[in-house]
Amino acid sequence: MNVLMLSPGFPVEQPFFTRGLARRGHHVIGLGDQPQHDLPPVAKESLAAYVQVASFTDEERVLATVADIHRKAHIDRVECTWEPYMVLAARMREMLGLPGMTVAETIPFRDKEQMKRVLDRKGIRTPRHFSTTQAKGVREAAAEIGYPICVKPIAGAGSADTYRVDSAEQLEEILPLLGHVPEVSVEEFIEADEYTFDTVCVGGEIKYFNICRYRPRPLIGKTNEWISQQTVAMRDVMHPDLESGRQMGQAVIQALGFKDGFTHMEWYRQASGEAVFGEIAARPPGANTVDLMNFANDFDVHEGWAEAVTEGSFSQPIRRSYNAASLFKRAQGQGRIRHIEGLDALMADYGEHLCVVDLLPVGAQRRNWKQTLRSDGMIIGRHPDYATLCEMMDDIGIRLQIYAE
Ligand SMILES: Nc1ncnc2c1ncn2[C@@H]1O[C@H](COP(=O)(O)OP(=O)(O)O)[C@@H](O)[C@H]1O
Ligand SMILES: [Mg+2]
Repeated sequence: MNVLMLSPGFPVEQPFFTRGLARRGHHVIGLGDQPQHDLPPVAKESLAAYVQVASFTDEERVLATVADIHRKAHIDRVECTWEPYMVLAARMREMLGLPGMTVAETIPFRDKEQMKRVLDRKGIRTPRHFSTTQAKGVREAAAEIGYPICVKPIAGAGSADTYRVDSAEQLEEILPLLGHVPEVSVEEFIEADEYTFDTVCVGGEIKYFNICRYRPRPLIGKTNEWISQQTVAMRDVMHPDLESGRQMGQAVIQALGFKDGFTHMEWYRQASGEAVFGEIAARPPGANTVDLMNFANDFDVHEGWAEAVTEGSFSQPIRRSYNAASLFKRAQGQGRIRHIEGLDALMADYGEHLCVVDLLPVGAQRRNWKQTLRSDGMIIGRHPDYATLCEMMDDIGIRLQIYAE
């Protein structure tokens, strides 16, 4: 098959999905805004051809380019595993009359208000919610819902511009910070533990699923610089505590009529055990969570996805031998990384359980902790026992220190 892959080189996960398609024997044509020579090696090796567009924002021009490619080399599939271009990919499919998600099917995965309206109609528990483009609308929604509330962009990502608000006074402090967000979602704030439910589906049937626990909730990790955010892909996905989330995940996929490919859902587990819906995307999770799935199973779920979307099957062996966790470490201080402490001792203690140690090198500029999920370093570890893995990752979070100045 000739598969057009959008943005095959960026962000860092995309080359591996591109390679997955190549491993299934397809001719992968990359369409991206990077110059060809800047593509990461894994993307370069996996592409049969690459076409550079000046920008993805000029959609009409991009569509014209795709029509041109189609005339020269018949395109059988258009694939995209990155959130910003999901709707554009759907437009391409509609233009070329190809299978896969349409624009109408994609929008409920992008617009958090429409998403929740569809799910409400199907009786799925969402936080009470309103959407608005005006400060006045936020105040009215807050009065209707009652505090605490969560205010966030209608099409956000990575907890950007997302706030917990506990009172009307606090709301007045936050409203001016939201001036640049065109439309916000105002929700009942759900006190809970936070999990994912990620799937690879074929024909609407879940062929593989993964559940991660966020430690702590992303909004807390995002607003406290000292915290090293962890995501733990759980081995015991059939644990009774996860039952309500599993059922919800299945129901959401059905309600939205999702058919083929990756989904990434987030859900909240309240102390009562009740699951509350968070959000869903029609793509894989970011921030190396797909790598966690691979380390937990010793398989290649990037290739598994490619097989699902092009051949309608999933044959990667689901072993669930490990829990696998990522930890994102932030440096102390600003400027350049000067010193890394504790790594040698941690390697001696836990080296056999660590899969990835990827820290910014000494001399590198510290990343802006408010804008990056990856922070200044990533460690991935795995262990068959969940509690042991969590203890190990917590210990790493404490003993590993990166200093910048
Ligand atoms: N209604 C809510 N109640 C409690 N926490 C919320 C709520 N909505 C969002 N959050 C917190 O904010 C984070 C980001 O919100 P989310 O809807 O997942 O947007 P995105 O991940 O696209 O930025 C969530 O992971 C969660 O920690
Ligand atoms: Mg989220």
